[in-house]
Amino acid sequence: METIRTIAWMKELVRQAHAESRIIGLVPTMGALHRGHVALIERAKQDCSPVIASIFVNPKQFGPNEDFSKYPRTFDKDQEKLEQAGAHALFAPEAPEIYPPGFSSYVNVDGLSDRLEGRSRPGHFRGVATVVLKLLQIVQPDFAYFGRKDAQQSRIILQMARDLNLNTEIVVCPIIREPDGLALSSRNAYLNPDERHAATVLHRALEAARTELQAGVRDALQLQTILHATLATEPLAKLDYAEIVDAHSFEPITRISKPSYIVLAVFLGKTRLIDNLYLEPKPSAPDELDIHL
Ligand code: PAJ
Repeated sequence: METIRTIAWMKELVRQAHAESRIIGLVPTMGALHRGHVALIERAKQDCSPVIASIFVNPKQFGPNEDFSKYPRTFDKDQEKLEQAGAHALFAPEAPEIYPPGFSSYVNVDGLSDRLEGRSRPGHFRGVATVVLKLLQIVQPDFAYFGRKDAQQSRIILQMARDLNLNTEIVVCPIIREPDGLALSSRNAYLNPDERHAATVLHRALEAARTELQAGVRDALQLQTILHATLATEPLAKLDYAEIVDAHSFEPITRISKPSYIVLAVFLGKTRLIDNLYLEPKPSAPDELDIHL
């Protein structure tokens, strides 16, 4: 697997791949890779060759009081994991390559970017959309793969791709979890043993909601009460938000009757974790739900 540091070299490889009519897949990441990232590579390999992974800890998506400087950086291990997963190339530019002096163009996906994660992390999605558009412009992939772990991010990228007529098909892949249910995240590395133990409360809250849903509950307030009650059992957990939202607009809903998310953001000490449950009415029986945890 080749590691590519410059945009010029990356574009040259892309030019060659397109000349050979190959199908290019891109998996954008910020490194500190785990099985969630590897699952995206494996999914990409089903459709594409070459599969290009990118590692770039994007300064523009971190707020001034967020964890940019201490975000886990495990480059050598990441390279090994990508090699093992069968990625064909790694694009790993330094920050000045992506944001040279004088850089001044940004992408805003209005509305969707202001709610939930966007409200708690102002400017975050502007940074995400900008860097993802740049990566898509540089790599010109036929397919790009994102995790449903970051449901709002995936939705915003789909909207951007549609609004800006991008030539890339955006593929959203399932959440990969630890055996105890905790969604894999690079930020799990921040948790001390007590916080790690307590962190399963996100999954437990979603499980509790699932039980209600399976019993036929569709009322959002009733589901929110269960979420709050479960989260309150964990003294180390501090709620940021627990909402039931429309899967398209990410606006709160009162009743589940179309594709929806239950979205959670919870602090364990200084570490902020997110998780979600995706609900999809069955096309054949709209009163029944497919529940994706
Ligand atoms: P990062 O947090 O490294 O995640 C890279 C990709 O892996 C994202 O699409 C994310 O949703 C997916 N992912 C993370 N944890 C996952 C899990 N447990 N299961 C499945 N997929 C998972 O998200 C970013 O980086 C950045 O915002 C980025 C899109 C790279 C732009 O900088």
